[in-house]
Parts: sequence; structure tokens; C-alpha cells
Amino acid sequence: MRVVSGIQPTGNLHLGNYLGAIKRWVTMQDECDCFIFLADLHAITVHIDPAELAANVREMAAALIACGIDPEKAVLFNHARVPAHPEMAWLLNCTARIGWLNRMTQFKEKSGKNREGASVGLYAYPVLQAADVLLYQATHVPVGEDQKQHIELIRDIATKFNTDYGVELFTLPEPLIGATGARIMSLRDGNAKMSKSDASDMSRINLTDDGDTIAQKVRKAKTDPEPLPETMDELAERPEARNLVTIYAALTGREPADVLGEHAGKGFGAFKPALAELLVETLRPIKARLDELGADPAELDRILSAGAGKAAAAAQPTLDGAYRALGLRGGA
Ligand code: TYM
Repeated sequence: MRVVSGIQPTGNLHLGNYLGAIKRWVTMQDECDCFIFLADLHAITVHIDPAELAANVREMAAALIACGIDPEKAVLFNHARVPAHPEMAWLLNCTARIGWLNRMTQFKEKSGKNREGASVGLYAYPVLQAADVLLYQATHVPVGEDQKQHIELIRDIATKFNTDYGVELFTLPEPLIGATGARIMSLRDGNAKMSKSDASDMSRINLTDDGDTIAQKVRKAKTDPEPLPETMDELAERPEARNLVTIYAALTGREPADVLGEHAGKGFGAFKPALAELLVETLRPIKARLDELGADPAELDRILSAGAGKAAAAAQPTLDGAYRALGLRGGA
């Protein structure tokens, strides 16, 4: 299994990133060939202060290591150090169809009413994402639910390229979307996903939040007055309650039904403190490691630069293959 996945280095890592993606990357790095990267070329699709971006890349590299990514096991790097990514993205831009990109819901959400004022990069970024994955012949892409459409697009681009140029260059990747934790919702609105771009910090748990902040956010999380039922089906119309049970289950690696089996009949007055404690205990060692690593930017740069070297070497044969297939370099 060759596993590739990435994350944008904007703002803080939150619980959705952790449960939807990172926790699974950490498990997979022991069994698979893993390439994990900070998508800094994605981060510039909206305006971002350059100094802030540079700091975010280091901070997020540190956060991934604190979560358990081991740069000796997984190749950890940032996009911008590996020019094969934008190079391959250009080649794939010429295969991807405008009609396909027009269907991307994330572009619609992110550009909002100001579609004409959005950058071309924001529109085309799913193609860069395709380059990210196809360059490494990824077989599996572990992501949260919100990335599913982008992975399907990657398969369409790979199929069209292989067919148009009569090659078997690209491997078709499978999205790996976890059963529990693939869509963690906001603590303030059970119908909106937990997100870095939500204006309210109370809507998310950041991996850097201290114990008191976590406890306060859980205490203030929107819920309802009903006790917890016996089955998840009975939570169908109670999105906030369903979300908290899902978070509890994903943190403990259990089924939500199992968590309900233990807590059915309890109200949130009892369930919330149990959840807060679980969160604090899970995040405490991550935060402690993060504080340690943050103190050594030179070591983080060394790790990212070593990772970029390995990534560039792994990407080159596929990039060369794409140039050859297009008649841009040597024979096909
Ligand atoms: P990004 O930075 O928005 O999110 C990183 C990962 O976290 C997952 N995630 C969630 N999972 C569950 N619940 C949530 N509320 C939640 N919020 C975020 C995302 O699904 C993702 O797996 N375009 C990507 C980065 C990227 C990428 C790639 C991913 C660039 N190239 C190639 C995979 C393969 C993004 O913006 O993720």
C-alpha cells in the first residue's frame, strides 16, 4: 500500500483534522509506505501573509510530529520544496475538464458569492491535489469525508490521461474514509463541519487548547435536554448529540453504538465531563510534545528538507513518464 495525504498549513490543527485524517496516518505509517505533506501551495490560493505562512508550515510540521508522525517512517515534507508538484499540476491541467472543476463543491463554498474575484489557483487547486497523489502512484488516500469528491476527480483525471495517451502511467487511488470521525461537526452547530475557517473558536477543539479551554468548550457545546438513547438511529434528528457521541467513539477507537451502550440514559450533565476528560487526556501528551518541538525550528527545517529530498526522488519517475507520454521529452 502506498499512502499519500496532505493538510493545508493554515491556522491550528483541530479535532476534525486529527480524527478524520492524522490519527489514521499515524497508524498507517507502520504498515505502509506513507507520504505526508503540508500543502503550502494550496494555502496561497487565498491571500496569506508570507511570514505567517512560513511560520505555519513549521508549526504544522511540529504538530504532525507531536501527533505521532515519525519522519523516519513516513516521508514528511512541504509542497513548495518539491517542484514536481506544480510541474505535474500544469500537465494535468491540460487533461482536467472545466466541467469537472465546475462541480467541485469546495470551490463553490470557498468562493461564495465572489466567484469572479476568486483566484484561478483556488479554482484549479483540485488539479494540484491530483498531482500530489498521482506523482507517488498512491494506492490509498486517507482523508475526511469533505475530500471525497476531490479524490474521485483524481481518478477521473488519471483515467483520462492514461486513456488519451495510451499509457498505464497513473495508479487509480482509493479514498480511505474512516467509518467514525470522517466528519466531525462544529460544537456550535451539528450541521456544519468543524473547520479552521469558522469565525468562532468555540466551534472547534484545537490541538493546542489547554485543559481548561477544552473543558469550557465541551461544557458550552450546543446539545439538547434529552438523555442519550440506546441506538444511533435515535440520534438521527439530534446532530449535536450525535457529534459528541461520535467524537467519544473516535477518540476511544470504539463503535458509537458501543459508547451509547455504556452511556444510554445519561444526560449531557454527565456525558460532557466524561468527554472533556477523555479529550484532555488524549491531547495532553500531544501538546507537551508540541511545546518541545516548537523550540527547535532548525530541527524542523532539517526534517522538512530531508523529506523533500526523498519525495522529489520518488516523484521523478512519474513526472518523467508524464512528459514522455505527452511527447515533451524523448520518445513515448
Ligand atoms: P484540509 O487541510 O482542509 O484538511 C486536512 C484533513 O483533515 C480532514 N478534515 C476533517 N475530517 C473530519 N472532520 C472534519 N471536520 C474535518 N475537517 C478537515 C480533511 O478531510 C483532510 O483529510 N485539500 C486538502 C489537502 C490536500 C490533500 C492533497 C489531501 C492537498 N493535497 C492530496 C489528500 C491528498 C485540504 O485542504 O485538507
